[in-house]
Formats: sequence, structure tokens, C-alpha cells
Amino acid sequence: MIFYLLKKKKCGVIFTNWKKGGHMKSIQPKGILTTQILAMPADTNSNGDIFGGWLVSHMDMGGGIEASRLAQCRIVTVAIDQMVFIKPVKIGDVVSCYANLLSVGTTSMRFKLEVWTLSMRDKKLKHVATGIFTYVAIDEKGKPQPVYR
Ligand SMILES: CC(C)(COP(=O)(O)OP(=O)(O)OC[C@H]1O[C@@H](n2cnc3c(N)ncnc32)[C@H](O)[C@@H]1OP(=O)(O)O)[C@@H](O)C(=O)NCCC(=O)NCCS
Repeated sequence: MIFYLLKKKKCGVIFTNWKKGGHMKSIQPKGILTTQILAMPADTNSNGDIFGGWLVSHMDMGGGIEASRLAQCRIVTVAIDQMVFIKPVKIGDVVSCYANLLSVGTTSMRFKLEVWTLSMRDKKLKHVATGIFTYVAIDEKGKPQPVYR
């Protein structure tokens, strides 16, 4: 039996991975797969990696889809907290955003969003970014309205 524990102290993120009885248990994304997109050359920053703002935009869209699905109405983003870029995203990576509902208030919904990439070069799945996104359900006039009406 091989026990393999990998701890990454950077950004407070801890990844755990182990091999038991010869079977490699993979590290899984948490939540519902909400968006998936291919990282293209036009989305790069001056380092040649994918621009952080592009990633946040896709996270915002992914969380927004889940928030409007839950509230069954228009929603707006009111806050983005604890945004962490863990690893760079490379051109050609398949970028997947997962949404995990944390809490529902009267008019607000908090989601933890995780972004994972799959590289076609090394076939590795990587957790590259995370953040807490809060959305508010709004009515026709843009005023907050209860999520559960
Ligand atoms: C979001 C918005 C409708 C809220 O309007 P408001 O009159 O300030 O509403 P309230 O103060 O009643 O707050 C509404 C909810 O948002 C939550 N909220 C407000 N500010 C927040 C913040 N900074 N962080 C987290 N939640 C917040 C409140 O706690 C409340 O939640 P609850 O009803 O579940 O208790 C308004 O601020 C707005 O239109 N902002 C612009 C949104 C936008 O353009 N987003 C970017 C593009 S989508």
C-alpha cells in the first residue's frame, strides 16, 4: 500500500492524493459542471498564459447560470471574494468551471466556484482557480427579490 500525501501550503490550498491497493484515487472537482471552454491564444496575457480576467469572467458566467437556474429570474453579481489563482492556465487547456452552492439568503446566493483544467499535452487535471461569488435575484426593475418566491 502506498500512501502519498501532497500538501501545497501556497494560497492555503491543500491537495490530497493517495494510492491504496494499487488503485489511484483521483482528486475530484467539487460541485456541478457549469461551463466548459477551450483556452485560446487570443485570451493570453503578456506572459503567454491565460489572462486572469478572462478566467474570472468565465467563473462569473458559470455561477450566474446556476444562480438564475436556482432563482428562476434575472440575477446580478454583487460580490466576488477569496479569488485565488492557483496555477497558470495554458493555451489549449480545456477549462471547466464547477459551482457549489454554499448558502441562500433572502435575495442572495453564494457559490464556491472552482476552475479545473485538462491539458491535452500531459492529460493532467489541475485545480487552477477558486473564488466565492455572490449573486442577487432581481425583478424587472433591477431591485432585489426573494430567491424563493
Ligand atoms: C445587487 C444589487 C441589486 C443589490 O441592491 P441593494 O439595494 O444594495 O440590495 P440589498 O442591500 O437589499 O442587498 C441585497 C442582498 O445582497 C447582499 N449583499 C449586498 N452587498 C453585498 C456584498 N458586498 N457582499 C455580499 N452580499 C451582499 C445583501 O446581504 C442582501 O442579501 P439577502 O437578501 O440574502 O440578505 C445592487 O447593488 C446592484 O444592482 N449592483 C450592481 C450589480 C452589477 O451590476 N453587477 C455586475 C454585473 S452583473
